[in-house]
Amino acid sequence: MDTRPIGFLDSGVGGLTVIKAVQQQLPKEQVIFIADQAHLPYGTKTPTEITNYVRFLVNFLEKQQVKLIVFACNTATAWALPTLQAETKIPLIGVIDSGVQRALAVTQTKKVGVIATPATIKSDVYAQKIAQLAPQVQTQSWEMPHFVPLVEENLYQTAQAQELVQQDLRQVRTSEIDTLILGCTHYPLLRPLIAQTLGTQIKLVDAGVATVQTLQQYLLDHNLQNSGETKKSDLFYTTGEQEQLTVIAQDWLLDPNLTAQKVILPD
Ligand code: SIN
Repeated sequence: MDTRPIGFLDSGVGGLTVIKAVQQQLPKEQVIFIADQAHLPYGTKTPTEITNYVRFLVNFLEKQQVKLIVFACNTATAWALPTLQAETKIPLIGVIDSGVQRALAVTQTKKVGVIATPATIKSDVYAQKIAQLAPQVQTQSWEMPHFVPLVEENLYQTAQAQELVQQDLRQVRTSEIDTLILGCTHYPLLRPLIAQTLGTQIKLVDAGVATVQTLQQYLLDHNLQNSGETKKSDLFYTTGEQEQLTVIAQDWLLDPNLTAQKVILPD
C-alpha cells in the first residue's frame, strides 16, 4: 500500500487520454500530470532535444514525491525512456510495450499498422518490438504530422479535422492491415473521426489505455497501490499556457472545476 501520487508526463494534452483511463480504472490513485506545451510538438524534435525536455519533466515529478512515472507520450517513450530509466531511482513506465502486446492479441490477419509522430516512426521501435515478439506479423507504419497540432489547437471536433483525418488516412484505409495502433496519446481525441474513416474492418488499439492495465498490474505486483479510503485531488501542470490545458482537460475529463497550473522549467 502506497498513497503517494503517480506522475504522468506528455508533450501536451494527449496524456489526458491516459489520465481518463486511470481515473476510471484506478480511481483511488492520485494523478500529477505535467504537459510540456512550451516545447511541443516533440514529434518533430531530435532525440537529444526530446531527452533533455523529458528529463526536466521527470525531475519536476520526482520533486512532487510521486511513486512512479508513466511516460504518457509515445515520442518520449521511443527516444527518452531507456536513458532516463538509467538515471532515475523510481520506476518509469512507457506506453509502447503495452500497445504492442494489445495489437498482437487483437490481430487475426497478422498485419498490423502504426500511426505516430515523425519521431516515433523514425525510431522504428514499434516495428522492432513487434518483430521480436511475433516475427510472423507484418508491420506498416505511417507518420501523421497534422494530428497533434489539430488536437492541441482544440480543433479535434471540427470539419477541418474530419477533412484532414480522411485525407491523411487514405493509405491506411486501402492497406491490408486489420489492426491499427494509435501510437501517439493525442490520437484518441480524434478516435471518432479515425474510426469513421477506417470503418469496422480495422480495429483500433489505444497504446495509452493499454498501458493503464499494465500499470494496474505493476502496482499490485509491487504493493504500490493506494488501497486506502482517501484520495487527494489530481493536479495538472503545464509549461505552456494554463488556459490551453485547462480548456481541453475540463472537456475531456468532464470536470468543469479543473484548473491547470503553469510551471516554468529550465529551457
Ligand atoms: C508530440 O508532441 O509530437 C506528440 C508526442 C506523442 O504523444 O508521441
